[in-house]
Amino acid sequence: MTASTDRIVIFDTTLRDGEQCPGATMTFEEKLDVAHLLDRMGVDVIEAGFPIASNGDFEAVAEIARRSDAAVIAGLARAIPADIARCGEAVRFARRPRIHTFVSTSPIHLAHQMRKTEEQVLEIISATVAQARNLVEDVEWSAMDATRTPIEYLCRAVEAAIKAGATTINLPDTVGYATPDEYRAMFVQVRERVPGADKAIFSTHCHDDLGLAVANSLAGVAGGARQIECTVNGIGERAGNAALEEIVMALKVRRDAMPYETGVESTLLTRASRLVSAATSFPVQYNKAIVGKNAFAHESGIHQDGMLKHSETYEIMTPGSVGVSKTSLVMGKHSGRAAFKDKLKTLGYELGENALQDAFTRFKELADRKKHVYDEDIEALVDNQIASGNDRIKVLSLTVIAGTMGPQSATLTLDIDGVHTTVQAVGNGPVDAIFNAIQRVVPHEAQLALYQVHAVTEGTDAQAEVSVRLEEGDKTVTGRGADPDTLVASARAYVAALNKLATKRVSLNAQAAIRA
Ligand code: KIV
Ligand code: ZN
Repeated sequence: MTASTDRIVIFDTTLRDGEQCPGATMTFEEKLDVAHLLDRMGVDVIEAGFPIASNGDFEAVAEIARRSDAAVIAGLARAIPADIARCGEAVRFARRPRIHTFVSTSPIHLAHQMRKTEEQVLEIISATVAQARNLVEDVEWSAMDATRTPIEYLCRAVEAAIKAGATTINLPDTVGYATPDEYRAMFVQVRERVPGADKAIFSTHCHDDLGLAVANSLAGVAGGARQIECTVNGIGERAGNAALEEIVMALKVRRDAMPYETGVESTLLTRASRLVSAATSFPVQYNKAIVGKNAFAHESGIHQDGMLKHSETYEIMTPGSVGVSKTSLVMGKHSGRAAFKDKLKTLGYELGENALQDAFTRFKELADRKKHVYDEDIEALVDNQIASGNDRIKVLSLTVIAGTMGPQSATLTLDIDGVHTTVQAVGNGPVDAIFNAIQRVVPHEAQLALYQVHAVTEGTDAQAEVSVRLEEGDKTVTGRGADPDTLVASARAYVAALNKLATKRVSLNAQAAIRA
């Protein structure tokens, strides 16, 4: 990959750094859907996962590579020969494969995590980058914790990586510590001092611990970086990574101040945000820049007055430019399949025939129960279907007795791998009764860490969207369920979280086996 002086390469790591954060586990199908949309929207590089981590991760990276279209597909590998070999095996199916290998360079990581000397790490860099370069032409090397690495040693490490064949050099702010000035200066110095620096594309990778990830990424570009690593909705380790939608729109809206462009189709940003939110079950904060529910809402009278007179009085970009359309009344129960398909297309969904038929059936059921079906209802319905498509445990039916005359009780039927089991349980309130019933059919040790309900649209017949977060030891997962009946949505959300927990257990067991 080459970069012209004003073209910024957008490298999305939602499926790797994003998925790695507690609670954001995605299923195989969800990863494929996210990758497909990223490719479609013009993301240049998709980091699809960490192939050595588990067979599931390997399979997901390999399948994303097979299905990739224009995007480069990258896999992550530690500076370990077995990691690099496995990564090469997974990405080789892509039309444009990349191996992304990394090693720590800061004194604190060398002393306490790596237990290696600077010279040993330089040798590791040369050997592992050369190994990767023998497998693929496009090799990215990252200096983990670059921003806490003395500049002299950082330059030696970058020089070793470029000499061994790295085509992209990433200098991450792994712990989210740098300020914009420091981050820009690091790129300027490394590019000035390292012989052969002009042969590589430099890349930013910023974490948001101090809320500076996007500002730092843009400062890195001012220092000469031409690739930005980011994630949809800014999800990622701890406080997250630089948010893709913020980077793309900052560069688009302020081209006068930052004369660079990306290849991302900004009208798909909202769709991407909703898809990732549904797949990870991480809600997007209401006031999140670009994709938050309130990002284009004007509450104060003065603002509303200004907006009515001229939209540019208080709006620096149009909602349409990021794919937000005015909420419209969709259709009722008499709407046909063709109209439904058309509506999905305008909302940014591309479903196969079977998925379309399932979604249409669920839409009809919803339209029977709910007078007005809005765009948001359709989105909640389809996102839920995508998220739960291949779940092993499914909610088949639920009857709840609630009210002032306790105890409240729930009768629940679950389908587990095709076997139907019905139980009854009581509880301190209807939600407690439902969760107790689920616990009876699927015994587990996980603790409920969060239970949250919000209405998808307005009105008393609105669909409820419920998020349930479960913690089991060091594993955290979040499930989401939507239904006009809040209790059914609660059962679905809890079951979705249990399905994710099962996936996570398999993945972590495989990782433990690799480490052993
Ligand atoms: O934050 C970081 O340093 C990383 C590397 C693996 C690139 O995610
Ligand atoms: Zn990171």
